[in-house]
Amino acid sequence: MITGQMGIFSLGDEAHGFFEFSLCGGVKGLDLVRAIAKVRMPHTTVGGANSVVGFRPELWRTCAAIPDDVHGFNDPLSGPDGFTMPATQADAFVWYASAHYDWIFDLGGETVQALSGVAKLVREFTGWSYRHSRDLTGFDDGTENPTLYEAPSVSLIESGSVGEGGSILLFQQWRHDWPAWSALDVAHQELVIGRTKADSVELSEKAMPADSHVSRTTLDIGGVEQPIFRRNVPYGCVSNHGTLFVGFAAEQRRLHGMLVQMAGADGGPRDALTRFATALTGAYYFCPSVNALATFVTDSA
Ligand code: HEM
Repeated sequence: MITGQMGIFSLGDEAHGFFEFSLCGGVKGLDLVRAIAKVRMPHTTVGGANSVVGFRPELWRTCAAIPDDVHGFNDPLSGPDGFTMPATQADAFVWYASAHYDWIFDLGGETVQALSGVAKLVREFTGWSYRHSRDLTGFDDGTENPTLYEAPSVSLIESGSVGEGGSILLFQQWRHDWPAWSALDVAHQELVIGRTKADSVELSEKAMPADSHVSRTTLDIGGVEQPIFRRNVPYGCVSNHGTLFVGFAAEQRRLHGMLVQMAGADGGPRDALTRFATALTGAYYFCPSVNALATFVTDSA
């Protein structure tokens, strides 16, 4: 049985740590995959932590199967008015999520040490949950997500296809412009998002602006709405904070298509939310099935 990484679907953790690594000079991608597959992942009955690991698609391709069209975030994405999402692709991604930050701190430290000489930490983020499931704009984040019954088929490459059980992750740090956002009254904030703030009801077709976040992230391909599974996490402090966008899909074109629309690079309007939040990083990672990862544990030299 092919199984996707469980951490993708483990909702509800309060504390998060995200770690992005780049290969040390002269080290092969295979050595990094083996080193990450060997990291002691938590395995207790209560407590403990959830984890997700991913690799730069071009690196994973040198080690195992992945669909041909999956690629890193190798170039910045710009809209016609110059709005740009940067490309900050690294080689590997590790996410730990737990009830308390002490687990994240210890596991993150062990992982950095275990990869020493193979890959160096290039970015680290600490995330936390805000008012149960809100992002730091104050809106409920994830309302339109697929349910946990639907999420695996939305997020994982189907059995029998190349890369089966794997998922494509888009990971971006978005810094919020808190002074500008908090200067808007709630009615205007709702027009930016496309949902009500108190209870996350979608605005009516008549009231929904063409540049709302909901309008620009609704992606149709051939008349079919394309789903993704979002696990966004707030980060930061009062004076410097935002959203770590964590989105999984079985096909990269869904994630990329949404970014293109958000930037207005499809000929449509630029997403109004991008006037209040700035992408500071952007990377795609391939998160292989646990079966594919396990082959590198037993194979390790
Ligand atoms: C600052 C960054 C972001 C914030 C604060 C944010 C916040 C939100 C909020 C509050 C909603 C409405 C509630 C919900 O359905 O979850 C939403 C919807 C959504 N967002 Fe984002 N988001 C961000 C970035 C992104 C990015 C980068 C993507 C895609 C690559 C994305 C894709 C979506 C999708 C697909 C929906 C559901 C749209 C629908 O109603 O069909 N978001 N987001």
